[in-house]
Amino acid sequence: MARRKKIYEGKAKVLYEGPRPGTIVQYFKDDATAYNAEKKDVIDGKGVLNNRLSEFFMSGLNQIGVPTHFIERLNMREQLVRSCEIIPLEVVVRNVVAGSMAKRLGMEEGTPLTRPVVEYYYKDDALGDPLVTEEHIAAFGWASQQDMDDILSLALRVNDFLSGVMMAVGIRLVDFKIEIGRVFEGDFQRLIVADEISPDSCRLWDIETGQKLDKDVFRRDLGNLADAYTEVARRLGVMPKNNQPVTKPTLIN
Ligand code: TMP
Repeated sequence: MARRKKIYEGKAKVLYEGPRPGTIVQYFKDDATAYNAEKKDVIDGKGVLNNRLSEFFMSGLNQIGVPTHFIERLNMREQLVRSCEIIPLEVVVRNVVAGSMAKRLGMEEGTPLTRPVVEYYYKDDALGDPLVTEEHIAAFGWASQQDMDDILSLALRVNDFLSGVMMAVGIRLVDFKIEIGRVFEGDFQRLIVADEISPDSCRLWDIETGQKLDKDVFRRDLGNLADAYTEVARRLGVMPKNNQPVTKPTLIN
């Protein structure tokens, strides 16, 4: 196979030039990082699970008319996506107080919010992705007012979709992060959901037991991360049909 050109390597994924103009191959690694990469490990099978789970969420969003970068899954670890210009914001939607919100506001984790709270963080690892307001976003030109309206609408639609899908399998969607990309179509531009949606970028709690089924298992040393992600995949019915361990290559889709 011809060697592909690497475009970018991040903490959990590698991007390669795609087979057609305007496409990118997104490769999911097994690397797990937390606290701005201060904590690192390799979790056997995580990339395979996140590739499948991101495919599941993104294709579901495409089907209900929420545009995403996802085109198709290529194999166990790779998916074909539309290339886009990433807006330098992490868009976080919260339904329940947890993580940095609990810390920042001195609130107890698990406190339900009476309405979803949307927050923006400036994507800059060196600064530790600081929380910013719409004032900063406008002043520094990271996104226009129209973009912000579209981003809010996308974020809330993703929240409704993911909350419903997770609720149906007994999981509470506590919070999640998405990234937004800009694509150009002729003279027009439009915003789409990009990057990934997986238990790396969500907080997922079992509704009955409160058990954490997301990256907090790794961040807080609560057990085996691949087992937690496998449980999410199993409940959503996105495990390979023969249920073979995800770390072994399989020909069955
Ligand atoms: P936080 O509580 O640490 O701010 O995270 C909120 C949610 O967003 C949580 O589900 C994790 C996710 N997230 C990321 O995936 N990457 C990030 O860089 C940030 C800031 C949050």
